Amino acid sequence: MNLSNQEKKRLKDKYGDWAVVTGASSGIGLELATQLAAAGFNLIINARNEERLLKVAQQLKSQNIEVKSVIADLSDKAGVEKMIQSTQGLQVGLLINNAGYGTSGLFVDASMDAEINLLRVNCESVLALSHFFAKKFKQQQRGGIIFLSSLVAFQGVPYAANYAASKAYIQSFAEALAVELKPFGIDVLAAAPGPVETEFGQRANMQMDNAMSPDQVGVSILAALGKRTNVVPGLLSKVLTYGLRTLPRSMKVKILEKVMAGFTKHQRSGAE
Ligand SMILES: NC(=O)c1ccc[n+]([C@@H]2O[C@H](COP(=O)([O-])OP(=O)(O)OC[C@H]3O[C@@H](n4cnc5c(N)ncnc54)[C@H](OP(=O)(O)O)[C@@H]3O)[C@@H](O)[C@H]2O)c1
Repeated sequence: MNLSNQEKKRLKDKYGDWAVVTGASSGIGLELATQLAAAGFNLIINARNEERLLKVAQQLKSQNIEVKSVIADLSDKAGVEKMIQSTQGLQVGLLINNAGYGTSGLFVDASMDAEINLLRVNCESVLALSHFFAKKFKQQQRGGIIFLSSLVAFQGVPYAANYAASKAYIQSFAEALAVELKPFGIDVLAAAPGPVETEFGQRANMQMDNAMSPDQVGVSILAALGKRTNVVPGLLSKVLTYGLRTLPRSMKVKILEKVMAGFTKHQRSGAE
């Protein structure tokens, strides 16, 4: 799927010239960066793996745009600072807080270092980048911020407890900022996809059913910016989110327990 010419123009006029996309070397971030490049945005893209990011930068440049690659680990304060420094002097109008990852399994068996690292990437770096760019956008009286929330953000999720909690933080943070920043001409969007076929599953050690492809979610996320504050891309995700909305929270936790037990079954059956 691709953005219509009208959408490309709307996004570029409203949020150009430069967009920052964290975690742009694969999956959803790569798809969003690709769509933005086609819309004529110049891009500041980030990831940890240099070789892959530079390859992506090369591909994106074929759209006749400028691309700055920032190799930085966002679990590290120095990495976040490097990101911010790399945008100095550029007319940035759009921040996409995409970099993130999941963990799964029983919390009691988890590595604390890995779980704390997850919070640093999924929450702390997002907090710091959003603060820097919200200030910049307030001065400009224009801008957009997209947050990658998730279907797991709306209730506790057994076997992905810390990951789901990190996305609940993102969802809540984005919803509040959408209201706070509106008077300054800043649009905020929380995008909450269900399973998407990316490298996420492998890193989180989940085997996800009915996953969408990144190109099925990218366009609907970008097209929603400035029109609403929440988007749930994909039919299945909509059915799951809106279908569960009226249930008591405790019941939603039980349902998500079953879903996540399915995604992590291979861990218990020793198939991995
Ligand atoms: N896939 C899903 O089912 C799904 C569903 C809902 C929400 N989401 C959310 O969507 C976002 C993107 O995930 P994805 O599915 O596209 O995953 P992905 O394919 O694994 O892509 C993750 C991207 O983030 C980068 N990254 C990972 N850790 C980083 C770090 N410490 N510092 C900087 N960059 C880092 C990765 O590159 P390097 O490894 O080179 O750093 C990669 O570019 C995440 O926030 C995820 O929670 C995913």
